[in-house]
Amino acid sequence: MSEAPLLQVQHLTRTFAGGHRGQRLALRANDEIDLTLGASGPEIVSLVGESGSGKSTLARILLGLDRPSVGRVLYHGVDVAKLRGRAWWQYRREVQAVFQDPYGIYNPFYRVDRVLDRPVRHFRLAASRREADEKIDGALRAVDLRPQDVLGRFPHQLSGGERQRIMLARLYLIRPRLIIADEPVSMIDAALRTMFLNILLDFRDQGISCLFITHNLQTAYYLGGRCLVLYRGRMVESGSIDEVLQEPAHPYTRVLVSSIPSPDPTQRWSGELPEAAVESGSPPGPNECAFAQRCPHVMERCRSERPSHHRVSGDREAACLLFEDVVPAAKATDLDRPKPT
Ligand SMILES: Nc1ncnc2c1ncn2[C@@H]1O[C@H](COP(=O)(O)OP(=O)(O)OP(=O)(O)O)[C@@H](O)[C@H]1O
Ligand SMILES: [Mg+2]
Repeated sequence: MSEAPLLQVQHLTRTFAGGHRGQRLALRANDEIDLTLGASGPEIVSLVGESGSGKSTLARILLGLDRPSVGRVLYHGVDVAKLRGRAWWQYRREVQAVFQDPYGIYNPFYRVDRVLDRPVRHFRLAASRREADEKIDGALRAVDLRPQDVLGRFPHQLSGGERQRIMLARLYLIRPRLIIADEPVSMIDAALRTMFLNILLDFRDQGISCLFITHNLQTAYYLGGRCLVLYRGRMVESGSIDEVLQEPAHPYTRVLVSSIPSPDPTQRWSGELPEAAVESGSPPGPNECAFAQRCPHVMERCRSERPSHHRVSGDREAACLLFEDVVPAAKATDLDRPKPT
């Protein structure tokens, strides 16, 4: 019997009630999302999408901080919503978060030591105080911090980069199976960003997977591996980041990628999503392609039919009718490709 993947998201939808002036609206922050992570060993998967596309909503659900309205999350094949007692405790240990601004996670009234002491106690990571101290020192050194420089200080006495590195040291201590990283490097400088990403790559080599949420394509490219593109709560494209950047399939991904001059890492590009890609306008109807309102290839059917995922090539998929006739790889290249700017 083959082993269940580390994590599976099945048909996940999260709606929020909304509307004003008597109007009732249901906002679909996550709309029928399917994804699998760690099916054949540890991996880093980047989740890319513009502001409001539903990335953090998905992250919160995966961390058990929120529940899906429809669908489920399976961890090693077991529905996370049904975990209780020791199994839930273990899930909370094995699936850990890193957020954009770690400041919010620290309690300003406690020294930063507490961020490291608490998991040691809660997850019983050491048999004695001495062992705990040794482990904490080792974890800090692993992320290039000198224990004597940071321990005993209050959060506001550290730089943002130091606070973020302490969060990595915390992960180093806990040794989770999966890290959910929600925009963890967008507020730190380039050198620290590279170091942070290298630590994640190193973690992966040690068996720790990561769902890396970003709106920076350059960061996703640096990490390599698979990339998932989210648009207005829907997964529109998935595949290896190299392929997605070199030959984006979904018209939305093409808009994204056309905002960067070249996926060649030797060239300078910001990799940030362009202004024009930030969505406005009314939310898509349930029986409509999420991108129909802006798509240069829009067809009549796109406004009355929700596209399912079609294989583009290899294990790359796009939720677009352009690819419904199973696509010989050559066909994808026939389509207008965005001109490098
Ligand atoms: N608790 C909530 N109540 C109502 N609406 C919410 C709630 N949480 C998120 N939303 C809405 O769901 C949508 C997706 O939000 P989410 O925070 O997941 O986006 P995001 O992709 O993380 O964006 P960003 O890149 O700006 O962080 C947004 O329109 C947001 O306003
Ligand atoms: Mg977010």
